[in-house]
Amino acid sequence: MNPLSSEDLANIEVLKKQIKDAPKGRGQLIPLLQMAQNILGYLPDKALSLVADYLSINRSDVYGVASFYNQFRFNPPGKNPVKVCMGTACHVRGGEIILENFERKLEIKEGDTTEDREFSIERVACVGCCALAPVALVGETLHGHMAPSKVEGLVLRVQLEREKAEREAGNS
Ligand code: FES
Repeated sequence: MNPLSSEDLANIEVLKKQIKDAPKGRGQLIPLLQMAQNILGYLPDKALSLVADYLSINRSDVYGVASFYNQFRFNPPGKNPVKVCMGTACHVRGGEIILENFERKLEIKEGDTTEDREFSIERVACVGCCALAPVALVGETLHGHMAPSKVEGLVLRVQLEREKAEREAGNS
């Protein structure tokens, strides 16, 4: 579980204000969870509790409903989300091994986010470039013909770019 960032705390205050104007009733559960996720980018415990309290629904029921839907996420999205394609073509060409390599390199499991929030990992359905299988996206960039040996380099590239941006920001 990632600790709340200062941005999360500010967003929770926004959620608290907006939720007050929302209609009540059990039927509002999904719309309110969507509202919370739109504001925060994910559903931390605190957001689930706010929604549960507002609708007078048990918190574990709220979690149960939210976890049923793919659209909801419980970890903050990484700045560089890693999406490993698990469509049929990528799967048969070793997508699972690519996923495992990202997990090992980043020391998180699929569905999780690194503590510095730089990376998150998720498996996705076919991204439409099966000829390039296996495929992974790092941020917005698609990488085709992935191999386990490429994983380290891709992660390193993002880290170096971040350091460069930080240096440039420090010099300006
Ligand atoms: S199955 Fe991976 S791109 Fe189609």
